[in-house]
Amino acid sequence: MILQILVLTLLPPSTADDVGGQWQILQNDIGVLPMHMQLLHNDRVVIYDRTDFGTSNLSLPDGKCRMDPNDTALQVDCTAHSLEYDVASNSFRPLMVQTDVWCSAGAAMSDGTLVQTGGFNDGDRRVRIFKPYPNGSDWEEIPFALSVRRWYPTNHILPDGRQIVIGGRRQFNYEFFPKTGGTSKAYSLPFLIETNDRLIENNLYPFVFLNIDGSLFIFANNRSILFDYARNKVLKTFPAIPGGDPRCYPSTGSAVLLPLKNLQAATIGAEVLVCGGAPKGSFNEALNRTFVKALNTCARTTITDPKPEWVIETMPVGRVMGDMILLPNGDVLIINGAGLGTAGWDNARDPVLNPVVYRPSDPPGLRFRLLNPSTIPRLYHSTAVLLGDGRILVGGSNPNIYYNFTGVPFPTELRLEAFSPPYLDPKFENLQPMILSPSSQTKVRHAQQLVVRFKLTGGGVTSDTVEVTMVAPPFNTHSFSMSQRLLVIGGENVTNVGNNTWDIHVSIPGSGTIAPSGYYLLFVVHGKIPSKGIWIRIA
Ligand SMILES: *[C@@H]1O[C@H](CO)[C@@H](O)[C@H](O)[C@H]1NC(C)=O
Ligand SMILES: *[C@@H]1O[C@H](CO)[C@@H](O)[C@H](O)[C@H]1NC(C)=O
Ligand SMILES: *[C@@H]1O[C@H](CO)[C@@H](O)[C@H](O)[C@H]1NC(C)=O
Ligand SMILES: *[C@@H]1O[C@H](CO)[C@@H](O)[C@H](O)[C@H]1NC(C)=O
Ligand SMILES: *[C@@H]1O[C@H](CO)[C@@H](O)[C@H](O)[C@H]1NC(C)=O
Ligand SMILES: *[C@@H]1O[C@H](CO)[C@@H](O)[C@H](O)[C@H]1NC(C)=O
Ligand SMILES: *[C@@H]1O[C@H](CO)[C@@H](O)[C@H](O)[C@H]1NC(C)=O
Ligand SMILES: *[C@@H]1O[C@H](CO)[C@@H](O)[C@H](O)[C@H]1NC(C)=O
Repeated sequence: MILQILVLTLLPPSTADDVGGQWQILQNDIGVLPMHMQLLHNDRVVIYDRTDFGTSNLSLPDGKCRMDPNDTALQVDCTAHSLEYDVASNSFRPLMVQTDVWCSAGAAMSDGTLVQTGGFNDGDRRVRIFKPYPNGSDWEEIPFALSVRRWYPTNHILPDGRQIVIGGRRQFNYEFFPKTGGTSKAYSLPFLIETNDRLIENNLYPFVFLNIDGSLFIFANNRSILFDYARNKVLKTFPAIPGGDPRCYPSTGSAVLLPLKNLQAATIGAEVLVCGGAPKGSFNEALNRTFVKALNTCARTTITDPKPEWVIETMPVGRVMGDMILLPNGDVLIINGAGLGTAGWDNARDPVLNPVVYRPSDPPGLRFRLLNPSTIPRLYHSTAVLLGDGRILVGGSNPNIYYNFTGVPFPTELRLEAFSPPYLDPKFENLQPMILSPSSQTKVRHAQQLVVRFKLTGGGVTSDTVEVTMVAPPFNTHSFSMSQRLLVIGGENVTNVGNNTWDIHVSIPGSGTIAPSGYYLLFVVHGKIPSKGIWIRIA
């Protein structure tokens, strides 16, 4: 026992490889399939599905019913297709959408409001607003707010506070919300035509990231560009990932912008990691009931490099429809998905139950680690988001057109689950920092200096073992987290102020290009173990 304690104290926590994370079922039936999820700054997660398949398993409150003559399934529907999940109390309440929100997109705006865009049928040009009031709000809808229909688009929050809405089925263009000058306008993006495989498409829900120079990195199908959306100009075309296989819907892989760090330095870089997907032709094979092995490769490149190249790495397991989540400590979690097939109705087999973690700064070849499996398949229409306490909320899977609980290979899954990564293991409890100040919901400005005070009973704090990170909570659907961004904002100037308490000085990033205004979760990370996050708002 003494020896064990000694070993644990001596080893840096990140080498304690004997824990693989823990799964917990939070709810057995939330009634609504979480096809889309967004964490808001009141620690509630807004969840919604689609409206056009009939009834859900959750009634609307107070006998309310939705009357929609244009709905393709039920014109009078007294069930909910959206809900708000409260993390602290592990409870939820139904919300009411008026039109079809199927396969849409969104982002949290700089004031913390969720703005959702598009959908299907009568909902395809709508914008919906959800204000996280403490008194219990509901969706508000704006008809014809989009210039064209948007089904399967990708959104990203921009430095000026607008969001950009890119593509969607048969839309080879982009637009902004709010609209500039009051007129809706779609700007053409031929890259989306060039990457559109006739019938299969393979360029829906493109992977989009805001680069540190203000341009957008856009990955669609098997190609990627840097794009200046203000001047409608392609700035750079990246080489293809070796192999040339598609990575976007329905060959759904995923991607992240790796943590941005050294933000004070003159030359900071930005890297993108793309993982998994399905080989060329897999979608047609799946329609013919042949389920092709998913891609087991990740490709990483420095998008700020003048001559970028993709470096290939191999995952422990192949995966299509995996979600890639930036953890507070800068690692990447890959979770959910399947080993065979593609996205789309009943197109996948062999659920991958084990998440893997990818540690970007470890040496190549040693970056992946397989974690403990769930028992619940999470295939098409499953979701995952990081919570403020460091857990990952996991929901969904419905590869069926309706809510089918029997008679199908993978029943509609209404259980909500949480994955606690290894850093939440009880044995690291005394190594977990606890933030004492500032208080959650503190407002800051760009370039502001901030002192973060934290407590840590396990000791051993030095400038080498501690850093502070900031995570923008993304909008998650179809295995991609839109506007996901993690910034490392400090790791120097740690001072002991007594009582196992330390002060660390950090600088809020200097511009909206590096960190768009809005709410972020701020974490103190000690030797890879993050504190619980507090919310800060860059205003
Ligand atoms: C959903 O409702 C159906 C019909 O009422 C019921 O049979 C089923 O058990 C419910 N499903 C879940 C997962 O609770
Ligand atoms: C619903 O259908 C009616 C009649 O076709 C049409 O006038 C109306 O604009 C539709 N509503 C929406 C939101 O599409
Ligand atoms: C909740 O509060 C907001 C802001 O104060 C107000 O606009 C809204 O009407 C309130 N909603 C309800 C249901 O009371
Ligand atoms: C990328 O995909 C397109 C469309 O399927 C294909 O024609 C092209 O050969 C692929 N590129 C590479 C480098 O394989
Ligand atoms: C799927 O099956 C059809 C009909 O048998 C056949 O014509 C087609 O080539 C098959 N497609 C693939 C990708 O195997
Ligand atoms: C799935 O549910 C729908 C609607 O309830 C029903 O019509 C269909 O037969 C079900 N499919 C299976 C395979 O049970
Ligand atoms: C340390 O603890 C003592 C006793 O509880 C308290 O008086 C003192 O203010 C604390 N110091 C700091 C820096 O928190
Ligand atoms: C950390 O301390 C050094 C030396 O005192 C100083 O130059 C630097 O600005 C400080 N950094 C922060 C983030 O406070």
